[in-house]
Amino acid sequence: MSTDAARVFVVGMGEVGRRLGGALGAAGVETVPVTRASGWEEALADPSALLVVCVREENLSEVLMRLHCVSPHRLVFVQNGWIRPLLAGLPGCTRGLVWFTSRGDFFRVLRPSVFSGAKAEFLAKALGRGGISSVAVDEGAFASAEAEKMGFNCVVGLPLAVHQVSLSEYLDRHRAEAQAVFTEAVTVTGWAVGTQPSASWWDAFLRAAEPLGWVRASTAKALEYRNGAVVRLAHELDLAAPVNERLLVAIGMPAGW
Ligand SMILES: NC(=O)c1ccc[n+]([C@@H]2O[C@H](COP(=O)([O-])OP(=O)(O)OC[C@H]3O[C@@H](n4cnc5c(N)ncnc54)[C@H](OP(=O)(O)O)[C@@H]3O)[C@@H](O)[C@H]2O)c1
Repeated sequence: MSTDAARVFVVGMGEVGRRLGGALGAAGVETVPVTRASGWEEALADPSALLVVCVREENLSEVLMRLHCVSPHRLVFVQNGWIRPLLAGLPGCTRGLVWFTSRGDFFRVLRPSVFSGAKAEFLAKALGRGGISSVAVDEGAFASAEAEKMGFNCVVGLPLAVHQVSLSEYLDRHRAEAQAVFTEAVTVTGWAVGTQPSASWWDAFLRAAEPLGWVRASTAKALEYRNGAVVRLAHELDLAAPVNERLLVAIGMPAGW
């Protein structure tokens, strides 16, 4: 596993990009920001650079088109959501599941972030040195972590928008629905990646969610990569995700997710 990286270009300087870039910089890694307006030319011209893609799921397709000439071994993706289909043509790329929450001044590491792939060890070590606890895992462990994270992201989003409540209000008033949303998400995506969800994931979710009780979602984002992906996969795998489906209908998402 290679651990050397010359420069790291951080593509997308939003919440995650600025936090990861800051931590890498604090660890002594040379980082270069790439925004819509700047940095792209330099990033694509450097044959040894690592590109850490921190755009939202919705922007990933267009960014992948710009990255078509870069070797997958130099690419890192840290998006939430079901992005596997988008990355199917990039074997050997590195993926990360970011377990911190950054919103404006709020920043909280919830659990160690998880990386898998060619640059996973390099990133986990550097981010750890820079203050963002992270681990490198193999593909199987990453698949489990991915299913578990889908559970988190299906609860902390769409249901809050449907009920117009904060996360703590939602978990207090609609605990059974929240657990059903979570269980459907981890079961369906677990099937899709060939992993068995653990009974401990729900309690781990509740612990991770504790500092986020104030979170609200006035509009639900990236639904086709989150609850929508769960329902789509459930249909494909002959499984059921009725609670996620009902919430999507409630928010007015057109069928065909
Ligand atoms: N925020 C968190 O706490 C957190 C935690 C874990 C995981 N995540 C995941 O991380 C991903 C990024 O989330 P985020 O919160 O960082 O989103 P964000 O704050 O919206 O940042 C995304 C950034 O990417 C930029 N961008 C979009 N297209 C680009 C392009 N073609 N070239 C260069 N930059 C481009 C955006 O610019 P514009 O504003 O101009 O579009 C924006 O600055 C999402 O998948 C999210 O679910 C977020």
